[in-house]
Amino acid sequence: MDLILLQKTLVGLFTAIASAVIISKLRRKRLNLPPGPFSLPLVGSWLQIGNNLDHHDFKNYAKKFGDLFLLRMGTRNIAVISSKDLAKEVLLTQGKEFGSRSRNIVFDIFTGKGQDMVFSEYGEHWRKMRRIVTVPFFTNKVVQHYRADWEAEAVAVVDDVRNNPAAATEGIVLRHRLELMVYNNVYKIMCDKRFQGMDDPLFVKLKSINGERSRLGQSLEYNFGDFVPFLRPFLRRYLEICREVTGRRLNLYKDSFIDERKEIASTRETEINNNGLKCGVDHFLEAQQKGEINENHVLYIVENMNVAAIETTVWALEWTIAELINNPKIQTKLRTELDTVLCPGHQITEPDAQKLPYLQAVIKESLRLRMIVPCLVPHMNVHQANLQGYDIPPECRIYVNAWWLANDPAHWKRPEEFRPERFLEEEANIEANGNDMKYIPFGVGRRSCPGISMALSILGITLGRLVQNFELLPPPGQEKIDTTENNGQFATRMRYHAIIVLKQRSFD
Ligand code: HEM
Repeated sequence: MDLILLQKTLVGLFTAIASAVIISKLRRKRLNLPPGPFSLPLVGSWLQIGNNLDHHDFKNYAKKFGDLFLLRMGTRNIAVISSKDLAKEVLLTQGKEFGSRSRNIVFDIFTGKGQDMVFSEYGEHWRKMRRIVTVPFFTNKVVQHYRADWEAEAVAVVDDVRNNPAAATEGIVLRHRLELMVYNNVYKIMCDKRFQGMDDPLFVKLKSINGERSRLGQSLEYNFGDFVPFLRPFLRRYLEICREVTGRRLNLYKDSFIDERKEIASTRETEINNNGLKCGVDHFLEAQQKGEINENHVLYIVENMNVAAIETTVWALEWTIAELINNPKIQTKLRTELDTVLCPGHQITEPDAQKLPYLQAVIKESLRLRMIVPCLVPHMNVHQANLQGYDIPPECRIYVNAWWLANDPAHWKRPEEFRPERFLEEEANIEANGNDMKYIPFGVGRRSCPGISMALSILGITLGRLVQNFELLPPPGQEKIDTTENNGQFATRMRYHAIIVLKQRSFD
């Protein structure tokens, strides 16, 4: 490099750092920001904290800095909430102000900069998208209409396991079969479609591309480029892959599902499926025809459902089954409830779940201890806001540490234990719908999960049928299932897909 260029670069760098220091000092003086760790200009606290931020780290910082603290990670401001009162303020009282979503550079690619529903800003577009998806997906009518399909899918799982001799001996990765079941549950509603089996070529293709997206999106490794813009060139290849996967994924949705529904609508063979409910894509296309949304929006709704509805439900099933295996007494107690409350030979249906308090307690306890979305999907304030006297800078990413609210020993008895009884005893009044801010596995308020009824129904039917029909055990030679966590951008999954032995019960 020639000397003058080097000189110019050094002077430029020095000026940039000096200005950043001055601006940051002035801003700190002007704004009354929440406390937080020491931060440098340009990189913030990223050098000492690194890429791997998760709900456990947030709990530790909260102990040091309080229930509201601010992390400055490069150019991103991240506020973390760790008390019921503050969660209520953010999600309910100031739900509008904090009702937008913060995206990162990868989710900007996946969602076309928030053209979808889950990651869109709070406002007209989000309201429209949510309204359009509600009719085919989120009403009680939908649960009542599709519950027979969900029960039939659970029967198919039980049958497949029974017919697989390995299930009762060396064990199988049950997750794979459950994944097919949840895809079928969701695709029935979305496209009136059922995949024939685990080797259905379309299912294999869909599962693979969704898996790629999930791996790329959930990784914490790209945080450095999201936080510190001048490091972004090091992520060029990663972002190219994200773009390429997004393109292939959206094309697959279009070519294999949406165009098929268009074709069916044009031939008018089955405008309305059985019982008068149109499938989701038919609804979305109708909204497109009316000019309410465009073709991209239709694609992004389908993309959202592949993640928000399918991945979460599969993860929740996986965690709950692991806890039932690792806590055999609880599994036995659940089986006894099913055997006692339901008539002999009667397999659990969706309405039966109401009569099975222990089953409900098991599901609640699993969603408490193994919270799938531990800090909710990050919220954001578009404009500067105020929380408990502190200034929250505009476009601040807000994490509500819902996992800590549900696992804080100050508010829960022996929270580290998997003990469903708590929801029948000292926490008997707590529901999963957020009637108490210390337990909000589906969030609460404007951006809360609209799929809660569907998720709880599918969990109840599937877990009930499995426990009714099989004894669920760890694989030979193992006492427990490995429940090491894999924490990602928004979700906590099981690191390893467990091998499970399913011994058929005899009903003589
Ligand atoms: C959002 C949890 C299943 C659709 C959310 C949020 C959480 C959550 C924590 C974010 C709430 C917030 O940020 O305040 C879960 C869990 C599930 C599950 C634990 C399963 C056990 C489902 C299902 C569907 C669904 C089955 C669809 C049928 C959505 C959508 C959003 C969302 C569309 C975004 C809402 C918005 O931004 O307006 N979910 N969910 N979820 N969930 Fe779920």
